[in-house]
Amino acid sequence: MPPQEQLLRVLLVEDNPADARLIQEELKDVPSARIEVLHVLRLADAERVVREAKLDAMLLDLSLPDGHGLGNISRLLQVAPMVPVVVLTGTDDEQLAVQAVHQGAQDYLVKGQVTGPLLVRALRYAIERKRVEEGLKREEAQRQTALFREQFLAILGHDLRNPLNAISGNAGLLLRYGGLTEPQRKAINRISISSDRMARMINDLLDFTRARLGGGYPVNRARMNLHDVLRQVVEELEVAHPQRRFVLSLSGNGWGDWDADRIAQAASNLVGNAVQYSPEDSPVEVSARDDGDGVYVQVHNLGLPIPPERLPQIFDPFVRGVEGKSNATRTGLGLGLYITHEIVRAHGGTLRVTSTEADGTRFWMVLPRHAQAVSSQP
Ligand SMILES: Nc1ncnc2c1ncn2[C@@H]1O[C@H](COP(=O)(O)OP(=O)(O)O)[C@@H](O)[C@H]1O
Ligand SMILES: [Mg+2]
Repeated sequence: MPPQEQLLRVLLVEDNPADARLIQEELKDVPSARIEVLHVLRLADAERVVREAKLDAMLLDLSLPDGHGLGNISRLLQVAPMVPVVVLTGTDDEQLAVQAVHQGAQDYLVKGQVTGPLLVRALRYAIERKRVEEGLKREEAQRQTALFREQFLAILGHDLRNPLNAISGNAGLLLRYGGLTEPQRKAINRISISSDRMARMINDLLDFTRARLGGGYPVNRARMNLHDVLRQVVEELEVAHPQRRFVLSLSGNGWGDWDADRIAQAASNLVGNAVQYSPEDSPVEVSARDDGDGVYVQVHNLGLPIPPERLPQIFDPFVRGVEGKSNATRTGLGLGLYITHEIVRAHGGTLRVTSTEADGTRFWMVLPRHAQAVSSQP
């Protein structure tokens, strides 16, 4: 007994009843193969079947009532690009065979000459060849993505950042030299603020590109105190916003193994947003407490809530508030929460949000103190 073969589902597109019957008979008689043939007479029916059925291969006649020639191949591949195609033709035409392969077919058979074993071999060969072709395409796509990432990171990291550093550095120098008239000082101050803002956006884009195209965030864990980081983040924002009231409540144990820079970036994004998207006269609350073997951090602000229909996408990249509806001027690219979410995820933690008119907006994250077994090195 030959080994039990996997069932192959093949679509036969052939309008000539005698040819179709012959092929079906031949395929039935091959003992080593189990082949289920779905037979249609027209290209339009074939398009419908490939859309609906899961097929392993197609046997395609090139002269059909509703389609003639090599165009039949591309019409079917448009609907089912992953299904291998073996072309059937009445004439032994070398030229046509080559053209069929160029159009995306994997093989070519002359109708009068087919036998069961030959058909089966052509089908298996076509399936294998298609698999290899797709694998090569995937590798090529990955190479292109990697190349694009490198170019993009280089543009952001050097080509854009260097001139910007020159602008903000020199604006800073001019401000420190003094001797400027008040309108001059104001203008240079605006240059300085705008270039700093642009630098923050470029940093966000760099982080985004690394996370999206590079397969996530690298996390360098070391023992650190989360309470200290939160204190520092709040202090920095207090300096930048002296008129705002910050309420910081820390309880329990702040120690854990995390990436201090990344955690500071995440906290700073959340608290920065809370300041940015709430009324000047309302407080921003930051709290931390123990939660199982982790730390629970919450950031709360009042003001216009995030619209409910936007909440499910709020951690997606480039999602921003509605223009004109927000009570703050737009300054970011909508990458802050995406980056924050990626950082928390890379630490094995969770980040959630609730946002309502009555309660305001609450972002909270839980950070496990140590690397989980799955993500730690053996
Ligand atoms: N604390 C918050 N309160 C209200 N809305 C917020 C808050 N944080 C974020 N948002 C909304 O989510 C959007 C996305 O935030 P973020 O990813 O940080 O991007 P950006 O701040 O660059 O717009 C913001 O544009 C804002 O509309
Ligand atoms: Mg933001």
